[in-house]
Amino acid sequence: MSMEEQPHDPLRDVGELVDSLRLAGIRFLPRQVPGFAVPVLPVAATPVLSVEQTPAEPARPVPHPLPVPPVPVVQAPPVPARTITLAPRPAPVAPSEELFALETVNESSTQGLSLEERAARLAALADQVSRCTKCPTLARERTRTVFGIGPLDAELCVIGEAPGAQEDLKGEPFVGEAGQLLDKILQACGFQRSQVYICNVLRCRPPANRVPELIEAQNCKPFLEATLDLVRPRFICLMGATAGRTVLETGSGIGALRGRELFWRGIPLAVTYHPAYLLRYPEKKRDTWEDMKRMLARMGRAVPP
Ligand code: URA
Repeated sequence: MSMEEQPHDPLRDVGELVDSLRLAGIRFLPRQVPGFAVPVLPVAATPVLSVEQTPAEPARPVPHPLPVPPVPVVQAPPVPARTITLAPRPAPVAPSEELFALETVNESSTQGLSLEERAARLAALADQVSRCTKCPTLARERTRTVFGIGPLDAELCVIGEAPGAQEDLKGEPFVGEAGQLLDKILQACGFQRSQVYICNVLRCRPPANRVPELIEAQNCKPFLEATLDLVRPRFICLMGATAGRTVLETGSGIGALRGRELFWRGIPLAVTYHPAYLLRYPEKKRDTWEDMKRMLARMGRAVPP
């Protein structure tokens, strides 16, 4: 059997190591050198075995044969604090205290007021609206708020959806293309525009004229209610689904609301299509005209043929 063929004998290895240490003059080895941790050789991951297999002897930690000076601990340099620059955040919108005061504006609180006092309160309300930031997106995007326009004690109040581009620039409701059609409808009913109180569910233009979100309509509703309580119209005409849903607090669409004898706080009310919808679907003008004739009959006014 050649040397290469001899089986490995660990005891013989240890004997040879001890002999060589003795020859080198080393008489004993300390069991532990202070500050020196005996390195541990990595142990191979234990394989998952079947029941029949005998596990091979795992590699064991081998103590280092000679003391090794402790490795000085080098202090890591302090990591400089990172400066993170954040984009400026919009200032948080605090709920306006004035908005809560709106709850005190209601039917009974405006009963004893003179015409002048109601006009003054309406002007104060418009001023409050102009500073409203309850809907951050609308407040950021608008050119100006669009309050209502028209006389107190108006015989008719028309409520639309929200200002469009023209209204946002001018600060007056229904002055664009839909407004011109509204003027024609009012004329056909025997009204001058100046005789009618005109306003919207929202006082800000939604970006790209999108449909107002529910929260936006709810945020703006106290303004609408306070307006109606101060103007005290004799009859209300809701134009479009947004006005119908918001004022009547219903999930019903126009189809279910048209032709019904409805009321808001005791004020008779009618629902019809929005003029902008009529511009897109002119065939619906005939239905609107029927709604207007029913409304005029309820108002006790002359109904055109
Ligand atoms: N549409 C509305 O609902 N209101 C306006 O003021 C203009 C267009």
